[in-house]
Amino acid sequence: MQLSTNHLLGIKDLTIDDIHLILSTAKEFKEVLQRPIKKVPSLRDTTIVNLFFENSTRTRISFELAEKRLSADVLNFTATGSSVSKGETLLDTVNNILSMKIDMVVMRHSATGAPHFLAKHIPVSIINAGDGINEHPTQALLDAFSIIENHGKLEGTKVTIVGDILHSRVAMSNIYLLKKAGAEVTVAGPPTLIPKYIQEAFDIRVEYNLRTALEWCDVANILRIQLERQNQVLFSSLREYSLSYGVNKKLLDSLSKKITILHPGPINRGVELSSDAADSDQSIILQQVENGVAVRMAVLFLLSNRSTSIN
Ligand code: CP
Repeated sequence: MQLSTNHLLGIKDLTIDDIHLILSTAKEFKEVLQRPIKKVPSLRDTTIVNLFFENSTRTRISFELAEKRLSADVLNFTATGSSVSKGETLLDTVNNILSMKIDMVVMRHSATGAPHFLAKHIPVSIINAGDGINEHPTQALLDAFSIIENHGKLEGTKVTIVGDILHSRVAMSNIYLLKKAGAEVTVAGPPTLIPKYIQEAFDIRVEYNLRTALEWCDVANILRIQLERQNQVLFSSLREYSLSYGVNKKLLDSLSKKITILHPGPINRGVELSSDAADSDQSIILQQVENGVAVRMAVLFLLSNRSTSIN
């Protein structure tokens, strides 16, 4: 089977068959990653460049490890210290890199639509590793994979996404994926951080009371407050936000059932999530990070058009 697309720009563009194919391929790669020898030759002689124009820890390391586990040749580019600071355009930067015979591009950029722009201008597959406030498709895929591992399925599973929905590409990709897969979705947070259109546009619930939103769900995906993307004050203080929308162990223990806690990272400990909740047995945050490698191996493998066998 093959994906219906040459790029992974967003979950919005994927079919449900694409999503199932990526998740089932990731399951096979997760088994590979449990072996003593974790490397397979699937992408031997394929050269991949990781273009990171915005900071990243998890996504950048996870893609690089996934590429190396697949035996690809890997180049890493970060905007800091590059000729971007001398005024070089995005297209010139990428064309210069591509002239060195690159086969695939993984890209993170603070501008919404940057990978979509590149996909129109260069002849290789592009994977969006997060663009502005638009999408972060591999994060949603690894979140879905982790939910299935813990709850068996997405269909009918109740997921609450808590926090800064307005600025969150993770929230957008999760909403697209969960709705396509038949999960039930609530978004929760202060009214100023939840777009007005979202309920109708995506057929999801909006809840301003955190306890009610958590009592309803099986899984809560807690988002980081993205101070770097806020150009106006949307809540009075981090302390105030934490008092109304911070998830802690005491709150989790007071619910009528045990829910699963996800967080895409990096965590603002003590703001959206307390340490006792982040480090509790209800949290699968490190499992998400582990699954990210298998999911990214699956995406890279399927987009490489070499989907014969994994080995
Ligand atoms: N989840 C995520 O995108 O983390 P990084 O910003 O560290 O890549």
